[in-house]
Parts: sequence; structure tokens; C-alpha cells
Amino acid sequence: MRVLSGIQPTGRFHWGNYFGAIQQYLDLQREDESYYFIANLHALTTVREKDVLWQNSVDAALDLLALGLDPSHATLFLQSDVPEVSELCWLLMTGTPLGLLERCHAYKEKKAKGLKADAGLFTYPVLMAADILAYDADIVPVGEDQVQHIEVTRDLAGSFNHQFGETFVLPKAKVLESSAKVPGADGQKMSKSYGNTIEIFEDTKKQRKQIMRMPTDSRPMEDAKDPDTDHLYQLFSLFAPDEEREEMAAMYRRGGFGYGDVKKSLAEAAENFFGEARERRQELEANPKKVMEILGDGASRARKKAGDVLHRAQQACGLKR
Ligand code: ADP
Ligand code: TRP
Repeated sequence: MRVLSGIQPTGRFHWGNYFGAIQQYLDLQREDESYYFIANLHALTTVREKDVLWQNSVDAALDLLALGLDPSHATLFLQSDVPEVSELCWLLMTGTPLGLLERCHAYKEKKAKGLKADAGLFTYPVLMAADILAYDADIVPVGEDQVQHIEVTRDLAGSFNHQFGETFVLPKAKVLESSAKVPGADGQKMSKSYGNTIEIFEDTKKQRKQIMRMPTDSRPMEDAKDPDTDHLYQLFSLFAPDEEREEMAAMYRRGGFGYGDVKKSLAEAAENFFGEARERRQELEANPKKVMEILGDGASRARKKAGDVLHRAQQACGLKR
């Protein structure tokens, strides 16, 4: 089995990114082969400041390594360090119906809001297809919102194979259902676009303050409450061991508690959960050369694989003999 996934460096990673995407990556990194990349070409569709894009990309690598990505098993690299993918993207683009891209949500949503969309955003799913097909990936762990793009990848690979003969492996999405939507500080889905994120590696003091400021409902303390509809409980249950989670749920159902205590427990649970990763991140931050070496090494392994697949595709469609 070959596993591949990409994550955009559009800002510091938050709890939603971790439970919705990163955790799945890490669970799969010991498959036969695994490829994880920082999708900086995709991020270029929204991040237009060079220093920000670069710093976000380095931070993303540091975060992934600190969270447990092991470069001796998994290949970690920057998307832009594998130019073969952009070339493959063109081959796929020549067979992509416009209607297929018009139905893709990122573009559709931007257009519906009356915002200006560019060709990069419009063709974003084709680059994503190239990312996946370039490594003969079988399994692509992604959040729910990316499933449509995997379907597009399968469509494009299928029609290329149909026209030119078996060339690409058709990938499958692997979605983690249970934490499909991690709530943000305000109870809506946690997302950078709603400004309600809690960053994984936020300074612990700031994080505590942020958690203590989270809005809650104003029902009387003594009322019994349903834990499953409360965002503080939902967040707590992501971090807490089973026993503590059940205790907390029982406390909600009994009533007679204050949200301040729940917030304190949440802050503590999150600090414990990411404690070791925080230490690892500090060590890595002190050794930027090592991080660059890991990315460089990852890029050469990735280029080798993508080069083979590109060659196969070029032969299939008559660009090479
Ligand atoms: P954001 O919405 O903050 O911009 P991204 O779109 O960059 O986040 O998300 C990167 C990955 O993290 C995606 O695979 C996405 O599904 C996952 N993800 C982001 N937010 C959440 C969330 N609140 N719950 C579950 N998964 C999430
Ligand atoms: N579009 C993905 C996201 O926003 C990132 C991504 C780019 C990706 N290329 C990919 C994910 C290939 C999986 C496979 O989350």
C-alpha cells in the first residue's frame, strides 16, 4: 500500500487540522511507502507574501516532524521541489472537462460570493490529481472537504487510462469520520476562515487565556446539560482518556458545574496531549539545518518516483518513445 497526503501551509496548524488530517497521516506512515508533502503550490493561490509563504512552509514541516512524522519511514517534502508534478498536471489538464472544475467547491464557493477567482484556483483540483497520481498512491487520507477532489482525481486518471491505456493507479480517499468537524472556540467548525482556531503550538499561557475566553451558553449552573451538543465537551473528548471523558459527560448530565472548570480541564488535557510534541518542536527549531536536510532528502526520493510515473505517462500519450 502506498499512502500519500498533502497539507497546505496557509497558517499555523490548529486542532481541527490535527484531528481532521494530521493524525490520520501519522497513523498510516508505516505502510509500505508513505509520502507527505507541504502543498506550497496550492497555498500560492491564497498566500501572496513571499516571506509568509516560506515561513509557513518551514513551520508546517517543523509541526509535522514534532507531531511524530518519522522521516526514516515517511517521505516528507515541499510540493514545489518536485517539478515533475507540475508537468504531469499539464498532461491531465488537456483532458479535463471545464464542467468538472466548475462543480468543484473551492472555486464554486468563491464565485458564489462574487469574489475574483483565478486560473490557479480553478485548476487547483488538477494539480491535486497530479500530486496523487505522480506517486502511484493507493490511499489518500484527507478531511471530508477533500473527498470531492479525490473523486476528480479518479475521474481524470480513469479517462487518461481509457484513452491511452493503463497508466495511473486509481487512488481511494480515507476519511476519518468520527472527528469530521472539530468545533472552534465559538462552536462553529474550527477554521482559519472563521478566525476561531486554537493552534497546536500556541504558547501555553496564551492558549489558556484563549480557552478561558471561549463563549458558553448562559443557562443556570445547576441545569443538567447534554454533553454531546457542547463544543467544550466535544473538544475535551478529543484529548481526554476514556475514563475522564465519561466522568465529564456524567457531570454535564448531572448539572451543577461551571464552564470555567471545564475550560481548565480542557486546557490541561490539551497541554498533556501535545506536551512531548512541544518539546520535540523546540529541539527541531534549534536545528534548522537538520530540517532542511530532511526536506531535501524527501524531495529527492519523491522526484525519483514522480519521474518514473511522468515518464510512463509521457510514453502513453505520445510525448516520448
Ligand atoms: P482551514 O479551514 O483552517 O483553512 P484547511 O482547509 O487548511 O483548514 O484544512 C487542512 C486539513 O485539515 C483539511 O484536510 C481539513 O479537512 C482538515 N480540517 C480543517 N479544519 C478542520 C476541522 N474543524 N475539523 C476537522 N478537520 C479539519
Ligand atoms: N487540497 C488539500 C487541502 O487543502 C491539500 C492537498 C494538495 C492534498 N494536494 C493534495 C491533499 C494531494 C491530499 C493529496 O487540504
